[in-house]
Amino acid sequence: MSELSGEVFYPDPAAAGAAHVPDHEALRASAAADPLRFWADRASELEWFKPWEKVLDASNPPFFKWFTGASTNIVHNCIDRHLSGPYKNKLALIWVGENGTDHESYSYFSLNREVTKMANVLRAMGVTKGDKVTIYLPRIPEVVFAMLACAKLGAVHSVIFAGFSADALQDRIGDSESKLVITADGSWVNGSIFRLKDIVDEALRFSPSVENVIVVRRTGHEVVMDPLRDHWYHDLTALPIAKGPCATEPMDAEDTLFILYTSGSTGKPKAILHTHGGYMVGTYTTLKYTFDIRDEDRWWCTADPGWITGHSYLVYGPLLTGATTFMFEGGPTYPYPNRWWQLIEHYGITTLYTAPTAIRSLMRFGEAWPNRHDMSSLRLLGSVGEPINPEAWHWYHRVIGKGRCPIMDTWWQTETGMFQICPVPSMPLKPGSGGKPFFGQEAEILDEAGNPVPDGEEGFLVLKNPWPAMLRTLYKDDERYVNTYWSKYPGKYLAGDSARRDADGYFWVIGRTDDVIKVSGHRLGTAEVESALVSHPAVAEAAAIGLPHDVKGHAIHVFVVLRMGFESSPALAEDLRKHVATHLSPIAKPDGVDFAEKLPKTRSGKIMRRVLKARALGQDEGDLTTLDE
Ligand code: WT7
Repeated sequence: MSELSGEVFYPDPAAAGAAHVPDHEALRASAAADPLRFWADRASELEWFKPWEKVLDASNPPFFKWFTGASTNIVHNCIDRHLSGPYKNKLALIWVGENGTDHESYSYFSLNREVTKMANVLRAMGVTKGDKVTIYLPRIPEVVFAMLACAKLGAVHSVIFAGFSADALQDRIGDSESKLVITADGSWVNGSIFRLKDIVDEALRFSPSVENVIVVRRTGHEVVMDPLRDHWYHDLTALPIAKGPCATEPMDAEDTLFILYTSGSTGKPKAILHTHGGYMVGTYTTLKYTFDIRDEDRWWCTADPGWITGHSYLVYGPLLTGATTFMFEGGPTYPYPNRWWQLIEHYGITTLYTAPTAIRSLMRFGEAWPNRHDMSSLRLLGSVGEPINPEAWHWYHRVIGKGRCPIMDTWWQTETGMFQICPVPSMPLKPGSGGKPFFGQEAEILDEAGNPVPDGEEGFLVLKNPWPAMLRTLYKDDERYVNTYWSKYPGKYLAGDSARRDADGYFWVIGRTDDVIKVSGHRLGTAEVESALVSHPAVAEAAAIGLPHDVKGHAIHVFVVLRMGFESSPALAEDLRKHVATHLSPIAKPDGVDFAEKLPKTRSGKIMRRVLKARALGQDEGDLTTLDE
């Protein structure tokens, strides 16, 4: 191999393991020569009720279809096929509650029992193939059962992160036309009860599509139950309807598996649509290769199932590979900042997959906390959600990985469903770079006009080849799908990120180029924050920007123009911050509120957030010719 430039780490293959991809260069070359062959071979490792006629149907781009003509069900591959093999009694899911005393574990056999039970209940409530089901649950095993039960029946799940407000939940339920909502009485957040069911009640006041609500008991506090609409899950499972087997519905490879709402450039969240066949092959392959999944692994992805990372790499990917997936209800610092390290020691976690923001927040507490624990079970580490800064990379590598564990920095998106730019453990690593496009993929950095920029220069990141787990469209909005991702550079997928490629072919993602802000790895749209603000009686106009933040990566900063008769004050600023937290989500709570007389706009009336950002950072405001001032 040629000499690589910059800071490079060469993982020790014996220690890190590279069982599935011992020679990444050879595999990269063969997958590049024939990507469809590569994907067909991977798909053959899974079970299909009926084989595909074509691996890829690219006859109507950008509406690509994968494994056309094939029939399968992702649940058949996540669960059913393991029941007749050596994994039947292997642990599929280990769950630990925030209080540390609640814990449950499920073998593939018992996971099947729970998923079957929930599927029987859903079916008895009238859920059939193609129906939409909203899942609004804390990080408890039932969220996994619910997702898999929907998929087993061919229903389409829409998981909403349980930190979203009633307004956000209502929008998403309404848009998806869900007829059923699965929730819990409450969730535990750092020792306090977050009253989930109350939020659902509020959201459902204006949600005519919803016929039934299933409520899982978690926190045990008193909740109001609508006798016609709301049902305790434990009551339902005690009924005869819950008993007995439940067939796994054969699905066309292109049938919808789930929709997942994410933020874009407008205030209206968009629902990314993924399918059974391609998503299954993509998540299975990327997890297996990048994290070198082995039989004895205990895999911990710290993401919430409410985000794509939880879908692909907490639930589906690990079960497809027959791994043991670990799920923790709580956060990293409650009651003490050694919580994660203690769990790694106690459960013998081999692979930890988390976000840079979590690493940075834990770094602040010093090395003594992790050093109290024996974390020698760790073999590999992972990073996702935002660029990882060199300080955080080194701390993660040295203090958590003891210099032994390679860090797999995986770049991907809700839309891509699976990793797109990521290393494998046999590949030299550069701190802060995700390495190279996954096998079979090619990426490019383009300038405004669509020409590739020279290595080392910043530009728009695009993906050149279709991939199996790609989004198929935006639910109910084909036009927005085409416009958002495929119209700037026809034939190429526009990621919405700026990036560089270095002379060694490694990609360095810099950040979003659109009106999306990554706050603690969570994706938020400036327009969503702004619309939450203008719903406050004092606010006439608002603009939100992301400013660099040591722990969160970016923090939200807002500028508001008040209505006549309202006066700026610290109390009003605090009230506005809280308003965003309750009307959108606590994760969207602005760090800073500035009152302004007016906002910089173009002559056509568009807010120039770029100008606000430059001013806030004391930078050059750039080209102001379009400014209407
Ligand atoms: C955006 C997608 C799918 C992962 C969870 C986030 C940023 C994601 C990385 C990374 C640099 C990253 C990008 C991307 N991002 N992973 N390893 N390095 N940036 O999914 O919420 O859809 O956000 O997250 O900006 O576009 P998402």
